[in-house]
Amino acid sequence: METILYPAHAPRLADMPATVDVFAGDGTEVCEDTLARPLKDLRLSVIDQCNFRCTYCMPKDIYTKDYPFMESSERLSFDQLVTMARAFVQLGVDKIRITGGEPLLRKNLEKLIERLAGLSTPDGRQVKIAMTTNGALLAAKARALKDAGLDRVTVSLDSQDDAIFKRMNGVGFAVDKVLQGIEAAQAVGLSPIKVNTVVQKGVNDSQIVSLARHFRHTGVNLRFIEFMDVGGIGAWSRTNVITSAEARRMIESAFPLIPHAGGKPASHDTASRFYYTDGAGEIGFISSVSEPFCGSCTRVRVSSDGKMFLCLFANHGVDLRPYLSKSRAPQGLADVIRHHWQRRDNRYSELRSEKDSAAGKKIYPTVRMSLVGG
Ligand code: GTP
Ligand code: 5AD
Ligand code: SF4
Ligand code: SF4
Repeated sequence: METILYPAHAPRLADMPATVDVFAGDGTEVCEDTLARPLKDLRLSVIDQCNFRCTYCMPKDIYTKDYPFMESSERLSFDQLVTMARAFVQLGVDKIRITGGEPLLRKNLEKLIERLAGLSTPDGRQVKIAMTTNGALLAAKARALKDAGLDRVTVSLDSQDDAIFKRMNGVGFAVDKVLQGIEAAQAVGLSPIKVNTVVQKGVNDSQIVSLARHFRHTGVNLRFIEFMDVGGIGAWSRTNVITSAEARRMIESAFPLIPHAGGKPASHDTASRFYYTDGAGEIGFISSVSEPFCGSCTRVRVSSDGKMFLCLFANHGVDLRPYLSKSRAPQGLADVIRHHWQRRDNRYSELRSEKDSAAGKKIYPTVRMSLVGG
């Protein structure tokens, strides 16, 4: 048997590979974790900085100009990001979501997208490339992103009211510019466009119905996300969460809805989907607090310095950088990823529910959101 040699500074995985590899009939490897969840979605962060300071994600008193963000030299290069993506695709990933921080702050991002869009799965399907952005730079960049091969975008937007939006993004950024970004993305065909709204009780719950009204008949798929205890939000409490059921009731009092697929997320998806009965389009709810979907979670996250996180709520990342060297990748890299995925048992959101008291507090500290891109 071939001996696998790793760079001296890399941890040795003496018992790798963990189990016998399984292949589907078409030759694609099926890499499953301890709960039989296949590896399918890669969320690749390209930068840990952001031009917003959303109060729940990067509060400006903590993320000051002196905050120790990653040096640009610490970030994976485009070559390394592509090598990384290739190894994941070999193991079953067929969708890559580019995240940040704010991914559009990474210089020449189109060049990376062009290369990622050229990847195919072992059975010959083109890998889908999506991006999550705050939309601030989208109006200027939508055309170039589309031309580079980006398939679609998800824009984070927590309010349609300018004053609330400015307060929540922490830098006084005007909502109109984000709305223009969404329109530009639509105009160039980066569709279906999704808009993600994190709802916090007493902060932006007044926006639920107005956002729904705004995006009806536009083809944009608006999704409300339950406020989660991700990152360093020590102050999170379940009492600040507006559940999907509550948000849905508010919308239904103005615009009746019918559930798609029983109102449950489809396999491996995050959102429960609903349609307006009058044909005005679709709306979704991401119930990670009230109805966790860990059972079908196929997502892996890689930070911009090459650490792999097996859960949004992980508190430790596996450093993949040592396995990126030309002589090791992609096989050595794929072996390490497989090794860790096959041992994965993360299901934080379900555990939170199981441990939940009425008030529900964060159960342990987890990685900062801007490092793994949500
Ligand atoms: P598509 O279905 O491809 O559009 O993407 P997605 O829903 O996987 O990704 P998106 O970035 O749109 O995710 C929406 C939001 O759902 C994220 O910003 C998180 O707040 C939440 N979310 C996504 N994935 C997870 C997850 O694995 N666990 C938890 N708890 N929340 C998640
Ligand atoms: N709860 C839910 N979603 C969050 N996001 C950031 N912080 C939280 C949180 N505490 C979402 C953002 C964006 C994505 C990157 O993650 O709104 O859609
Ligand atoms: Fe806000 Fe997203 Fe930036 Fe966090 S990464 S501060 S949620 S825009
Ligand atoms: Fe997946 Fe972790 Fe989110 Fe559960 S909490 S859905 S395991 S990322």
